[in-house]
Amino acid sequence: MTQPQIRFDDGAAYERYMGFWSRSAGRVFLDFLSPPAQQRWLDVGCGNGAFTTLVMESCAPAEMHGIDPSEGQLAFARERMAGGAASFQQGDAMALPFEPDAFDIAVMALVIQFVPDPARAVAEMARVVAPGGTVATYVWSQDGAGSPSKVFSEVFRACGFSPPSPPGRAATGAGALRDLWADAGLEAIETYAITVQRSFESFEDFWTSSTGSGTLKPAVASMDPDSIARAQAMLRERLPADADGRITNSADANAIKGRVP
Ligand SMILES: C[S@@+](CC[C@H](N)C(=O)[O-])C[C@H]1O[C@@H](n2cnc3c(N)ncnc32)[C@H](O)[C@@H]1O
Repeated sequence: MTQPQIRFDDGAAYERYMGFWSRSAGRVFLDFLSPPAQQRWLDVGCGNGAFTTLVMESCAPAEMHGIDPSEGQLAFARERMAGGAASFQQGDAMALPFEPDAFDIAVMALVIQFVPDPARAVAEMARVVAPGGTVATYVWSQDGAGSPSKVFSEVFRACGFSPPSPPGRAATGAGALRDLWADAGLEAIETYAITVQRSFESFEDFWTSSTGSGTLKPAVASMDPDSIARAQAMLRERLPADADGRITNSADANAIKGRVP
């Protein structure tokens, strides 16, 4: 059976769900990177600019370029940073539209699992970063809490509906990331495990925010009302509300950085 395609075509829906998660993990990732100010940054798969804004606010970059294949995401990024120094263009991680040595830092924030050829994407980042610069990523883990969507995927599967699997999913473990970074010739490689949490004001908020974009949207669209009710009951059991009705979800990510020789 052909899997429904994972699309990120709605920057606002993405913001409601993954924007928060991306920035939570992104703050820890930036602590791990501890980048100097005045660097030339490339944000590969910048999406709606969720992580890009963090860099702009906290890293004083000399330049910031974001690329992403989705015009819907880029439109949101351009609007949220209107008048700022960041520039955004359409592009693919596997064929970066930049000259060698054009940047000091290239990052992929929650992107590598969506790229069909992750090794090519890492090699491309290493190509466009100047010697001494940094190539880094953070990506939801398959272990522990995993992605914020993991609890949904497990419940949906139990109800007979499988969310589509990202093409580069194998590239998300710390060992696989280390191999990718080493194969791209990067040096001084370090990994770091990130854990983040998010509280939703109600179950309805949790459900609506989480299923409006990314991998879960096509899964919910394929479910009948009875299956949705069953999945919601299972989710309420897995993540019970606190006394105020709030639901808390957790997620684990792996981060990696390496230096261009
Ligand atoms: C989960 S979102 C991450 C967005 C953003 N980096 C963030 O931190 O919120 C994944 C992004 O990867 C982009 N993407 C998918 N395939 C890609 C590719 N081959 N090259 C670059 N970006 C890609 C999607 O369009 C989407 O915006």
